[in-house]
Amino acid sequence: MFIKKMPILVLSMLVIAACGGGGSEANVPLDPVPAEFAGQTNPLGTDAASAGAKVFQVNCESCHGPQGYGDGPAGVALDPAPKNLAELQARAGDDYLFWRIASGKEGTSMVAWRGVLTDEQIWQAVAFIRTLK
Ligand code: HEC
Repeated sequence: MFIKKMPILVLSMLVIAACGGGGSEANVPLDPVPAEFAGQTNPLGTDAASAGAKVFQVNCESCHGPQGYGDGPAGVALDPAPKNLAELQARAGDDYLFWRIASGKEGTSMVAWRGVLTDEQIWQAVAFIRTLK
């Protein structure tokens, strides 16, 4: 099963490498959102961005940086480095952002925030991330 998929994997990595041009990640497709989260949209209005800014400052800024560029002091030594959320939010749906924040990202320092933050706080953070550019 895994072996059979290898050529496709290698091929897609080559394609990604070819499109990568100068280290931009804009061409790397995002992972599909699991069914549990797929299709969710932020139930809070854009007003939630100001509450989200506080959530972000306390919990996320150390790694992702004040503008979300992935340049926070605690992120410097991490591999992979914290994501540039300004770049990411331009091409990711609410469901993707909520899922990643709630569940974390395996194999990286991005932990699951569900349990630490309420769902409302996660949506506030998403509203704030939407203001990043
Ligand atoms: C300990 C450092 C650290 C903290 C704190 C942190 N992150 Fe992350 N974050 C990361 C790393 C590392 C990644 C993975 C980047 C990658 O895969 O390229 C990541 C990934 C993400 C992603 C998904 C990017 C993708 O690859 O799709 C989102 C969204 C995100 N973080 C938002 C947040 C939010 C919101 C908070 C605060 C609630 C937060 N992060 C706190 C380090 C951190």
